[in-house]
Amino acid sequence: MQSLGKESEAAIKKDQRYLWHNITPYSEQSPPMIAASASGSWVTDVDGNKYLDGMSGLWCVNVGYGRKELAEAAYNQLLSLPYFPLTQSHMPAIALAEKLNEWLEGDYVIFFSNSGSEANEAAFKIVRQYHQQTGQHYRSKLIARYRGYHGSSLGALSATGQAQRKYKYEPLAAGFLHVAPPDSYRRPAGMTVEAFNLQCAQAIEDTIVWEGAETVAAVIMEPVITGGGVIVPEQIYLDRVQEICRKYGVLLIMDEVICGFGRSGRKFGHQNFGIKPDIVTMAKGLTSAYLPLSATAVRKDIYEAFKDSSDGYGHFRHVNTFGGNPAACALALCNLEIMEQEQLVERADILGQRLYSGLSGLLDHKLVGDIRSFGLILGIELVADKATRQPAGLDTVKGIIADCKAKGLIIGKNGDTVAGFNNVLTLAPPLSSTDSDIQFIVDTLTAVLNGSWGA
Ligand SMILES: Cc1ncc(COP(=O)(O)O)c(C=O)c1O
Repeated sequence: MQSLGKESEAAIKKDQRYLWHNITPYSEQSPPMIAASASGSWVTDVDGNKYLDGMSGLWCVNVGYGRKELAEAAYNQLLSLPYFPLTQSHMPAIALAEKLNEWLEGDYVIFFSNSGSEANEAAFKIVRQYHQQTGQHYRSKLIARYRGYHGSSLGALSATGQAQRKYKYEPLAAGFLHVAPPDSYRRPAGMTVEAFNLQCAQAIEDTIVWEGAETVAAVIMEPVITGGGVIVPEQIYLDRVQEICRKYGVLLIMDEVICGFGRSGRKFGHQNFGIKPDIVTMAKGLTSAYLPLSATAVRKDIYEAFKDSSDGYGHFRHVNTFGGNPAACALALCNLEIMEQEQLVERADILGQRLYSGLSGLLDHKLVGDIRSFGLILGIELVADKATRQPAGLDTVKGIIADCKAKGLIIGKNGDTVAGFNNVLTLAPPLSSTDSDIQFIVDTLTAVLNGSWGA
C-alpha cells in the first residue's frame, strides 16, 4: 500500500497554492502524486513510494525513464550549440530529418515544432496553402472523427472530436467537420464488423461529396484512436479511407503523436495498415518526452508546390522559435538509436501481445465489455451492463484507477472526451518494460478487478 508522507504533505500545500494542473478538476479528493525520480518503467514519489507507470506519462516515455545517454546527448549539444533558428539550419535538425524520413519509409520533408498540437496546426496550414498553390482555391475544409483528439490549441481543438474538451471554449475555427469513428464494439446489432467499418469509411466519402469535393482540403485521423478510447479500425477501413482521399484529391494527414515511434509495434502506426499518408504529424515518443519536440512530415511533391512564389506568398509563412531546438533534435536522434539498438519497436509488439493475452481472461468479468489492443496500447471498455453495453459510470472507472494506484500501478482512462463514454481504462507502458513489469500490470489489474469490484 502506497502512503502519503511528510514530504508530500508540505509539497502539496505549495502545489495547491501555486500550480495550475492539466485537465484536473479542483474538487479532486486525492492530492496529486509528486514525482521525484524514475528509472525504467518505475516512478518514485517524494515519499519514496514506487509506482509502475503503465501510461508512460502521457503515452510518451517510450524508451523508459533514466536514460543517461539521452541526458548526455542534450548536454553535449547544449554546450556546443544550444540554439539556432531553423530559418537557417543546424546539423542535429538535418540529421534528424534524414532519420525520420528513413523511419517513414518515404519521401518526406520535415517541419519541426514543439508539441503535437503545433505539429497539427502546421499541417492544417500546409494543406490549405498547398491547395492554393496548386490553383484549388476553395479547398479549405478538414474532416476528422468524433472521439479523436488532435490537440489543445484552437485549430487542433477544432479538429478534435471530443465535445467535453471544447465546451466553454467555443466558437472554434471554422471549416472542421466530423464523422463517426469505426467503434466496432458499438456497431448496430446484426451488422458484421467489416460492413460497419465500410459504412464508417463511407461517411467520409458522403461528407466530401455533400460538402463539395472542391471545398475539402484534407482528412486527419490517428491510425487508431488512442486517448479517445482505443478504437481500432479494420484494415478495410483505412484502405477505403485512403482510396476515397485519392479519388477526390483530398490529402490524408496521419496523426502519429501517440501511435508513432514504436508504440504500435511498427515504427509508425499507419505502417501496420500499409497505407501512405500525405502528411504525418508526430511528437511525444519522438524524444520519449525527455525534451519538447514535434514534427510535421510532408510528402516531397507537396513541399515542391511551395516553391512557386509568383505572387510573393508561395513560401510557408510559419515560424516556430523553439521548434527543432538543437538539443531536442540531438536527443531525439539518440532516442531513435536506442530504439533501433534495443529493438524496442519489435519488443513493443511482443509485450503488447503478452499484455493482451494476460488480461484477456478479464473479458468474463461483469464490468469488462471489451478489450482492444494495438501494439503496446491496450483499452479496457468498462460497462455497467454487458447485455445493453451501457457504459460504466465515472465512479467505477475512477475507483478502479485509484485502487490500482494504491497497489503501485498507474493506469489511465479516456477522460473528458464525449459525455457518457469516458469508460475506457488505458495502458501504454514504456516499450522498454521488462517481462516482470508486464506481469506486474497483469497481476495488479486482475487482483483489483477481481477484488472489491467483484468477478
Ligand atoms: C493523437 C494526439 N494528437 C495530438 C496531441 C497533442 O499533443 P500535445 O499535447 O503535445 O500538444 C495529442 C496529445 O495527447 C494526441 O494524443
